[in-house]
Amino acid sequence: MSTPGPEFFPAPDRARTAQALAGEFRTAYGTDPEGVWSAPGRVNLIGEHVDYTGGLCLPLALPHRTFVALRPRTDGLVRVRSLQEGSGEVQVPLAEVGAGSPAGWAAYVAGVPWALLQNGFEGLALTGGFDALVDGHVPYGSGLSSSAALECAVAVALGELVDLPLDDTGRAGLASACQLAENVVAGANTGGMDQAASLRCRQGGAILLDTDDDSVTQVALDLAGAGLALLVVDTRAAHSHAGGEYGARRADVERAADLLGVANLRAVDPAGLDAALARLGAEPDGEVLVRRVRHAVTEIDRVRRTAELLRAGRTDEVGPLLDASHDSLREDYEVSCTELDLTVDTARAHGALGARMTGGGFGGSAIALVAAGRVEEAAAAVAAAFAGRGLRAPRFLSALPAEGAARDL
Ligand code: GLA
Repeated sequence: MSTPGPEFFPAPDRARTAQALAGEFRTAYGTDPEGVWSAPGRVNLIGEHVDYTGGLCLPLALPHRTFVALRPRTDGLVRVRSLQEGSGEVQVPLAEVGAGSPAGWAAYVAGVPWALLQNGFEGLALTGGFDALVDGHVPYGSGLSSSAALECAVAVALGELVDLPLDDTGRAGLASACQLAENVVAGANTGGMDQAASLRCRQGGAILLDTDDDSVTQVALDLAGAGLALLVVDTRAAHSHAGGEYGARRADVERAADLLGVANLRAVDPAGLDAALARLGAEPDGEVLVRRVRHAVTEIDRVRRTAELLRAGRTDEVGPLLDASHDSLREDYEVSCTELDLTVDTARAHGALGARMTGGGFGGSAIALVAAGRVEEAAAAVAAAFAGRGLRAPRFLSALPAEGAARDL
């Protein structure tokens, strides 16, 4: 039996999707929405598991977006439906939103006005509630930040309705509220990279995000001009232990920073890494901490070097840095898995200049930087490798750096 060709997950046509969603909103709520907004999922080019320790990351927005049609209310009620969730309407009075409430996907919607109010934003659009209809085109559960895309689409809608200037400063404020919603209401103790990428990226580039001071520098990423493409492989491996393991890694780096007497691992200079590792090695559980810190410090340095290469137009030279990032995440940080390693190894064997897992790990997605003419070949090779091992067929996406959250209608 021949292996089926690789399945590519399509990016939505924004104008058509927004129009159609406005029509669905009318059907669902009997009135027009105030507007339709969308926000992208992301892939991280490099800088993994360092956004909760003051590190640097280099994410880009995907053309795959989540759309929200929204109409403000005045009675403090949030009503939300989704074209993907068949379970009907979720209703939440804003007064009942808080830690762990509401449960499930509605947390990523109702948590946003709550977090904006917590962070000092004001306006009837935040206290009056709203009706919303969601249409997600970021593959769910694939480590490509479908949850951040949902939060950020709601945030950009509410931000506009309270007249927040949507320049980078305004967007940074929205991103930090979205992170608060995710941490407190959804209960996932993540860093802020995904929300920053979804709100602060611009078409045609990645952002160099400095999580120590929350600053962003736009970095042009002309893949096509360099004859390259960024292939995203959604391994579709379930990451059921992701939550607990993520928290455990975070606890490791926080403990290591405490032992080293620094606010976060950004403060460890690569030149002083050996001395820092020697200090940690003397602790009872030092062997694990040594590996965690070695990952974080070398990863931050790899991000710096990747950004320098991109700025110098030397995109075709970043491959070895991507490879080193993956090896460090697999060996030292221990967040990879069979499917991610198989993807990376296969892509490398089929012409990838570099490949690595992206996002939190334990499943989810990997990226491969490949010559534009060899995308199909690399995807077919990965699909065949999965089939050969009896693994669930992976899905593929093309990552063209897209625009951050914006109004569509
Ligand atoms: C997840 C989290 C991010 C980041 C990555 C790992 O995507 O949401 O904050 O920590 O994992 O880099």
